[in-house]
Amino acid sequence: MNFKLSITETGVATLLFDFENEKINKLDGDTLLELKGHLDELAKNSSVKLLVFESAKQGIFIAGADINEIKDIRSVDEAYQKAGFGQKILQQIALLPFPSLAVINGACVGGGCELALACSYRIISDDKKAVIGLPEVSLGIIPGFGGCVRLPKLIGLQAALQLILTAKLIPAKKALRLKLVDAIYNQSLSRDFIDNFIKQLINDTAFKKAILKKRKKSVSQKLLEDNALGRKLIFNKASQNLISKTKGHYPAPLKALQVIEAIADMNAEDALEAELKGFSEVAITDISKNLIQLFFTNEALKKETGVSDKNTLAVTINKASVLGAGVMGGGIAWLFSKNDKQVRLKDIEWEAVAKGYQTANQYYQQMQKFRKIKPNQIRYKMNHIAGCVNYNGFKQVDIVVEAVVENIKVKKSVLAEVENQLPDHAILASNTSSLSITEMASDLKRPENMIGMHFFNPVNRMPLVEIIPGKKTSQQTIATTVKLAKQLGKTPIVVGNCAGFLINRILIPMLNEAALILQEGGNVLHIDEAIEQFGLPMGPFVLADEVGIDIGFHVATILEDAYGERMKVAGIFNHIFNEEKLLGKKSGAGFYKHQKKSAIRYNKNIDAILTFYRGDKHISTTAFNHEQIVDRCILVMVNEAVRCLQEGIINNPAYLDMAMLMGTGFPAFRGGLLKYADNQGLQNICDKLTQLSKQYGERFKPAELLVEKANKQQLFYEGESK
Ligand SMILES: NC(=O)c1ccc[n+]([C@@H]2O[C@H](COP(=O)([O-])OP(=O)(O)OC[C@H]3O[C@@H](n4cnc5c(N)ncnc54)[C@H](O)[C@@H]3O)[C@@H](O)[C@H]2O)c1
Repeated sequence: MNFKLSITETGVATLLFDFENEKINKLDGDTLLELKGHLDELAKNSSVKLLVFESAKQGIFIAGADINEIKDIRSVDEAYQKAGFGQKILQQIALLPFPSLAVINGACVGGGCELALACSYRIISDDKKAVIGLPEVSLGIIPGFGGCVRLPKLIGLQAALQLILTAKLIPAKKALRLKLVDAIYNQSLSRDFIDNFIKQLINDTAFKKAILKKRKKSVSQKLLEDNALGRKLIFNKASQNLISKTKGHYPAPLKALQVIEAIADMNAEDALEAELKGFSEVAITDISKNLIQLFFTNEALKKETGVSDKNTLAVTINKASVLGAGVMGGGIAWLFSKNDKQVRLKDIEWEAVAKGYQTANQYYQQMQKFRKIKPNQIRYKMNHIAGCVNYNGFKQVDIVVEAVVENIKVKKSVLAEVENQLPDHAILASNTSSLSITEMASDLKRPENMIGMHFFNPVNRMPLVEIIPGKKTSQQTIATTVKLAKQLGKTPIVVGNCAGFLINRILIPMLNEAALILQEGGNVLHIDEAIEQFGLPMGPFVLADEVGIDIGFHVATILEDAYGERMKVAGIFNHIFNEEKLLGKKSGAGFYKHQKKSAIRYNKNIDAILTFYRGDKHISTTAFNHEQIVDRCILVMVNEAVRCLQEGIINNPAYLDMAMLMGTGFPAFRGGLLKYADNQGLQNICDKLTQLSKQYGERFKPAELLVEKANKQQLFYEGESK
């Protein structure tokens, strides 16, 4: 039994939701059935004056419908039945002969929010965990328990679209401002407030009237939303925004918009029916399955400690230091300070330290621009960073993050020097993009304390941190670094120690392949367009310019040294870096020209360089169509990803996919590289790779694990068949 029903003498029925053997409350099929039983009984009970929904879970009201059940939906009909059942029961709440109240003590999400919307009144706790919203579109579905119908009615069309289409969860104050809830209560005085609110709902008609009055639309809202023309404007604008944001890759928000527009003038019954149909259409798509899989991966990663032994103790890091105040060092120092950790930022000269401060300050300015921080808080946070050019204070730090130049000799010498300045327990973490952690630790006195902690640029936006243990890294060092990365708000993923680790090892071959296509007759704009249309946030040449051609070339060379022929750096990279000295965005030109305040333009000087490569074999710029470009660029990544799995650089395909999403912006709607391969069919991928290897060389030869899986008709994601 997940609900406990109690009825007071004054006619207040309370359904206390306490999902058995779970930390959260969720609305699965059985629970909905149980709820229906209670509602049927209550509806017949003439002594009931009010139904109150409360939760027995701390910090959670209802986390939503059961996502596992949604994941398993295979047909439109099944989707219709399942969502229809939930929708009907929530409608039963709305049609009860007495009013109802949702007491939202914590997260009130998706189906949970829809239940609250079906109630007559809603109050919410001021606890930080009490957030509310309809994030369904982030799972590739739309609200199907009445949310598309009730939310616009309650808070107005524009606010409802904003909530549903962005999938955002909002805190209590905003919920009150939007009139999504009727009151906020102080969590520490909750019982008194709730009891008093209930008493007034039962006894005080003026109190109820006042609530309903507060919910009334503003004049400007009425003017725009209560006429067909105004609504048309709102829908057109929302649709344009969505298309430019999603590039049409995500059908769910578009479907939600379509449904909300269609039901604007319908009666409740027809509107709910239209919502159900919309839900059923999107719930069965591959895109929804991919997004749900990513949701589960994310949840699994939150629980990861990085080590298999549960008894390994992760130490709490209080004080940190960063070596090297460059682009990355400044960003990492910012991250520590933002999370209220004291950090010393050391470089070899004060000028460099000042640049590090500048980087940190820039990140804070960006936060201020988006109203995520106030100026006085910035001053407070910046005070957590202590710049220095010596090792004073290093005896107190728990971790050093090394972010000096990418050169093994420099790194080894810096690490040996700093190790002598640290307490014995301190961790030495390197932010290297590609160099061996084992090699870096080889001359250290305490190699067990050495680990790779690879942040991505820009540190404020990239959620991934690759955690790379060396051969002698201790379990405690791994667990502590994983815990620290989480405290810093990042997603740590543990990967093996190989050249380029996971992300660069998979991504750089894609950039290289794009450059080879270019040399063979492709066109910069055309190649970038093909990859962007596939769904990556930017094409390979825009990306190369952003990262810096010097950095990209340097890492690519390290990969060529490590992996040989299959990662041989395309000549054009060498040419434009070493001979033309083009660095990309930071030097104003690379494959594109970058001028402040104007859009980037193709750098026509590249044409002259290309003539050198193509010579009299010059091929027309349409020599490669999008499909060919995508096949070469994406499959070369798939193949390398499989090699990483094969070699145990990472063992979990879902973690690999999430790492690519967070480290490269690989499109979520595709579910990840290996999910993409699964969805395309592994035999199909193998055949294409074999064909490409005949045309372009051994680098495309399908990885052994890929061939094995294709032969056995297996998938990377077990338990699924295609
Ligand atoms: N830039 C990126 O996109 C990126 C992304 C991820 C990782 N990384 C890695 O991060 C590290 C730093 O990269 P960056 O781009 O910030 O470099 P950068 O050139 O911007 O900064 C390096 C800083 O290290 C300082 N330095 C050199 N020797 C030092 C020493 N002995 N003690 C203290 N400081 C010293 C330099 O003065 C300079 O300020 C490299 O290992 C790089 O591979 C870079």
